[in-house]
Amino acid sequence: MALSLAEKKALLRKKMLEKKQKTSAVQVAEIPSDFKKQTYDMFALGNSPDLQEIKQFSAWVDKAQENALYAFESPRQHEQKEQIELIREDGKELTMVNFSSYNYLGYGYHPEVKKASQAAIERYGTGAASSPVISGTFQLHDDFEKSLIDFMGFSTKTHGISLFSSGYAVNTGTISSFMKPGSYIILDETAHASLMEGAALSGAQMRLFKHNDMEDLERILKTIEKDKVRKLICIEGVYSADGDRGNIKGVVELAKRYDAFSLVDEAHSIMIAGENGRGVAEEQGVLDQVDLFIITFSKAFCSVGGTLIARKEITRYVNWYARSRMFSAAIPPAIIGAAHKALELGRSADGDARRKRIRENVTLIRELLQDKVNLLNTTSWIVPVVYGDETKTLELSDWLQRNGLDGQPMNFPAVPKGEARIRLFVTSEHTKEQIEYAAKVLIEAAEKFDFLSH
Ligand SMILES: Cc1ncc(COP(=O)(O)O)c(C=O)c1O
Repeated sequence: MALSLAEKKALLRKKMLEKKQKTSAVQVAEIPSDFKKQTYDMFALGNSPDLQEIKQFSAWVDKAQENALYAFESPRQHEQKEQIELIREDGKELTMVNFSSYNYLGYGYHPEVKKASQAAIERYGTGAASSPVISGTFQLHDDFEKSLIDFMGFSTKTHGISLFSSGYAVNTGTISSFMKPGSYIILDETAHASLMEGAALSGAQMRLFKHNDMEDLERILKTIEKDKVRKLICIEGVYSADGDRGNIKGVVELAKRYDAFSLVDEAHSIMIAGENGRGVAEEQGVLDQVDLFIITFSKAFCSVGGTLIARKEITRYVNWYARSRMFSAAIPPAIIGAAHKALELGRSADGDARRKRIRENVTLIRELLQDKVNLLNTTSWIVPVVYGDETKTLELSDWLQRNGLDGQPMNFPAVPKGEARIRLFVTSEHTKEQIEYAAKVLIEAAEKFDFLSH
């Protein structure tokens, strides 16, 4: 019996949901009675009609707040500068060195960036008020798109671009429109949630290869070699959990050999890595061999939004078929104004100077922490210090903040169980004193919470 359009849509939605549930890595956990021993993953699953896990999670937040241990969501009082003030849930105002923002090059508070954002509002108003394909594309979007293609060293004759209102949306929209049921998506096992989500939404077969392991990737490619369907390999420039670089060179070689496409998410590396700031692909000399580039504006651009850059026919298709773009309003003018100015500065001598400073700052903090705490062996501006046991997160995050250091905790399921970490996001604008202070506080924390290097 033929299905109606509504029935087909309902069936598709059901299939997508089933797929998503199958790919969930979270398992139901026993919840200890001591709220300090409860962790984020414990409340992730549940389906009871009385909203059990939702109430338990809310009770956990209440308890942490009553005990003045809740170090999350505290309102910051100013820009994401290297020193910040925030107000904790107990009303206490804390001043600390800020190692938890993605404002890698300091453009988020640059006077020229702010001015450009204001000028964009003045001319274009506050919102785009439509999806980009319909009526939400303004001249300033068009100018920014051309500058981005030029920045990457491509030509508008061959390359196109698809702007999305977030980095998350660009990954889910791009992958789910480019890839179809029956095709294969092979992802690094530590790939960002938005890459995983896009793959699940597409309905394609998903395969994960061991982190940065080219042998494992090739083993998987061999198993699907004879299937004459589309294949896509997804990796990152700098991995946000481990802070290490993706082996883009290895991936594009394998992609070529096994007739697959490559997608590289340069969220944490664009404007920072490579001689011209074009990312890790530039650093590894393979800029012209990657098929799909993902860039987000939430990191070094310190704005919001993201983009796909790829061959023109691919971006044209994604522009129309990515549901997170077609059915969502375009990026507001103020955001584009800021991001475009950050790009202009980042491409100039100012950007070169900031890229040099961020590298020096990374070297300094690594020297100070080396052999003192459990430092992952990487060289990027994301410096992960592993404290292991996620049940320490609440007290450790609180202790760090009250001792003047804001660092981002990261836990299971974003990283494997028992590998919880504080990620320090180093910027070009941190001073030597701020870096020395952060290292001192972390080493004291490692003594107190038992994660000194052994
Ligand atoms: C690798 C990667 N891709 C995409 C995103 C999502 O970007 P956005 O925050 O701009 O939505 C992130 C966020 O941190 C990320 O780390």
